[in-house]
Amino acid sequence: MTRTVAVFSLGGAPGVTSVGMALAAVWPGDAPGVLVEADPSGGAVAVWRRIPTEPGLTSLAAAMRRGGGADPDAHTQDLPGGLRVSAAPVTGDPAEGAVRLLGQHPLPLSSMAAPVAVLDLGRLTPSSPARALVARADHAVLVVSERLTELRRAREHLLSPSFPARDLRVVVCGGKGGVGEITGALGSAVWGRVPEDRRSAEFLRGERDIARPQRRPLFKAAHRLARSLSAAATEHMVYAPLPPGVNA
Ligand SMILES: Nc1ncnc2c1ncn2[C@@H]1O[C@H](COP(=O)(O)OP(=O)(O)OP(=O)(O)O)[C@@H](O)[C@H]1O
Ligand SMILES: [Mg+2]
Repeated sequence: MTRTVAVFSLGGAPGVTSVGMALAAVWPGDAPGVLVEADPSGGAVAVWRRIPTEPGLTSLAAAMRRGGGADPDAHTQDLPGGLRVSAAPVTGDPAEGAVRLLGQHPLPLSSMAAPVAVLDLGRLTPSSPARALVARADHAVLVVSERLTELRRAREHLLSPSFPARDLRVVVCGGKGGVGEITGALGSAVWGRVPEDRRSAEFLRGERDIARPQRRPLFKAAHRLARSLSAAATEHMVYAPLPPGVNA
């Protein structure tokens, strides 16, 4: 069964796409992980890695709209190094439309030919169509930067009763060192840090090669996160309507 992990931020550009890509790349298993770039503001991966946006998020959404289900595996592309990606359109309007469509249909991600489908949901505003996708994921990862103003804003969001917090892990991206002060500012437990690592960030953007990326700090941290998530129990959800008279 494919695990689904929703990765998102609450503002700024703290590193959601980078953490999501690294997480999918290092997830334990025999087959490559998949990054589904379901960011309603538009994607980065197609530009970073110079790949077309189709097959990708738009073709997946179109297949879902046609009805009869869709095979998400058919809407991915292989990146060198093993990661597979379903890239979003680069601009906001078409990306938002595709994410909205995906949110309206139960996506059969759990039966993909991959150990994990990491959903890059970008910035999770209150009106983001990606909220529907967080609610259905097995795990949620909130990426924050250590900027104090952002942490204060994140604190308010986390206190809101509508915040989708099922199996949530808060990850600090960038900087270095312990996360004790960040936990204090956020008022909420922090899983840990994916440290500042410019070379790995450039590698993910397709701007440089690295001989052994798994030895770099960014990938080591992503690996720890992947291990902790993959070891956690999941609460599998039933999407199909229940027969009359049967209560969940
Ligand atoms: N750990 C890191 N160390 C150094 N640079 C990083 C790290 N993580 C991300 N970056 C860089 O920071 C920038 C923003 O990262 P990224 O695009 O992953 O963030 P995002 O939250 O997805 O942003 P957006 O809102 O644009 O989708 C990119 O140039 C990326 O390469
Ligand atoms: Mg991004």
